[in-house]
Amino acid sequence: MYRTHTCGELNISNANTKVVLSGWIQRSRDLGGMTFIDLRDRYGITQLAFNMDTNSALCEQARKLGREFVIQVEGTVAERHSKNLKIPTGEIEIIVDKIIILNKSEIPPFTIEEDTDGGEEIRMKYRYLDLRRTPMLNALKLRHKMAQETRKYLSNEEFMEVETPVLIKSTPEGARDFVVPSRMNPGEFYALPQSPQTFKQLLMVGGYDRYFQIVKCFRDEDLRADRQPEFTQIDCEMAFVEQEDVLNTFEGLIKHMFRVVMNVELEGPFPRMSYDEAMSKYGNDKPDIRFGMKIRDLSDVAKGKGFVVFDNSEFVGGINANGCAEYSRKQLDELTKFVTKPQVGAKGLVWIKYNEDGTFKSTIDKFFTEEDFKLWAAKFNAKPGDLILILAGAKAQTLSALGTLRLEMGSLLNLLDKKVFAPLWVVDFPLLEWDENAKRFFAMHHPFTSPKPEDIEKLDSNPGDVRANAYDMVINGVEVGGGSIRIHDQKLQQKMFKTLGFSDEDAEAQFGFLMNAFKYGAPPHGGIAFGFDRLVSLFAGLDSIRDVIAFPKNNNGRDIMIDSPSKVAKEALDELNLELKKKEK
Ligand code: AMO
Repeated sequence: MYRTHTCGELNISNANTKVVLSGWIQRSRDLGGMTFIDLRDRYGITQLAFNMDTNSALCEQARKLGREFVIQVEGTVAERHSKNLKIPTGEIEIIVDKIIILNKSEIPPFTIEEDTDGGEEIRMKYRYLDLRRTPMLNALKLRHKMAQETRKYLSNEEFMEVETPVLIKSTPEGARDFVVPSRMNPGEFYALPQSPQTFKQLLMVGGYDRYFQIVKCFRDEDLRADRQPEFTQIDCEMAFVEQEDVLNTFEGLIKHMFRVVMNVELEGPFPRMSYDEAMSKYGNDKPDIRFGMKIRDLSDVAKGKGFVVFDNSEFVGGINANGCAEYSRKQLDELTKFVTKPQVGAKGLVWIKYNEDGTFKSTIDKFFTEEDFKLWAAKFNAKPGDLILILAGAKAQTLSALGTLRLEMGSLLNLLDKKVFAPLWVVDFPLLEWDENAKRFFAMHHPFTSPKPEDIEKLDSNPGDVRANAYDMVINGVEVGGGSIRIHDQKLQQKMFKTLGFSDEDAEAQFGFLMNAFKYGAPPHGGIAFGFDRLVSLFAGLDSIRDVIAFPKNNNGRDIMIDSPSKVAKEALDELNLELKKKEK
């Protein structure tokens, strides 16, 4: 028997018990007369004790064991002299009688401690060692618990978990597909699902009126801290529901998760905010409402006073950084540098200090009077001691830059408390987005999203103004989930494809199966998908979803541990009827 107990289990009540333990050597301390080893497994750490006086041969053997050796020991539980009350096993140690080395270990390339000296690259290469560290273990335990609670809650609500295929047909949903060549059908390809969207809709047609699945999705898109090429969704769909039903059901799921996993009670219904308000007050569609500092439009008061930069801008707007009038020249220069970075995209930063004595000081004193600034300050509800930061330019870009500046100020002023959770629903998204390059509309969510019934008539006359029955759940500035009420009428779906520029033939070739299904009694339906990795990292207080995924990919989409993607042999390509293009020099 390798073990009678785990390394997290024994305490003072087990004193004098004979035990067998197995695990990894976390560290050892040689104090001359005594040698101590911390033995670690998934469940905890237990101290092993070796006494030079009573068993010198065994003590010598213990001293030779290195970090991360896997050993098995037999011994007796004893009360410790110096207790460590911070850990559950801290009152006892094992007086060891016998050691068996189960496997040796080379010296690990980084220290396997809570705070490691290993950079991300090396930890990813040796992920199996990184996984031994407590922060990784805790993240994966949390992930497991959240998956269990999701299944429990949704099953109780009569949702059925149904698996959908992974080798499917390419469906346009915004990102690029990963494709898989078919050996049996030369020249043809499967696509990996960006989400099970059409399948969950077909399950509704099949009569499974409450579906969910914790499912892998694949998107070939540019990666960031909150984006992986393969990620996990809690994917859900319901039949015979309106938007209100869906929002209530899934608000319930999220509240349940916060309650049982985090011990956090989220009171009342989540606030709702229209897309338009989110964009104009927060500069993006995933507002972080843990703090105010809303964007104000100054166009009407700032333009026409002879300051060319403002006069030539479509939009002038700003935020009020409370209590920052004391910012030094250096701090203001740093903010200017920040907003003019290409990712933020502003041309420059105008600031107005509302001094404690009630006077104003600004970069644009020459063009505006104290009276002007007073009026502006009133718009922000600004008080002496505040600092107003202003950007000008094209409307959409300037709002977006202000949104980024707002978050930067929130971070600098420590307003982004990771222990505070501020959820909301963003609703009333536009159905379509105009793409200037392609000169056509794209679905903002996906092509199966239903327009608001009262806006359907505008699909012909003014498609850009049509709003969708679509919604996102946002928590602390993270889009954790999104969904919509779907089109279930074949004619309307056809019209939607037409508006998106599909010919009848293309629509038939790509989505014939769905439109066909709609001919056979499709119920009204709608749903949502949560980004599971994002939810877990939010709960864990971590900034990157890589830290809550056992084997993630890096920002180039590579798994550097298994070295993938990689080349395949010529024979394999031949079998797939594929030939690689010669790389141009
Ligand atoms: P959507 O594309 O909004 O909707 O995706 C749903 C949620 O999945 C998460 N997410 C991601 N997480 C990590 N890495 C990624 N690359 C990534 N992309 C998306 C986000 C997002 O809110 N089929 C629809 C859902 C529906 O309409 O029911 C869909 O996939 O948290």
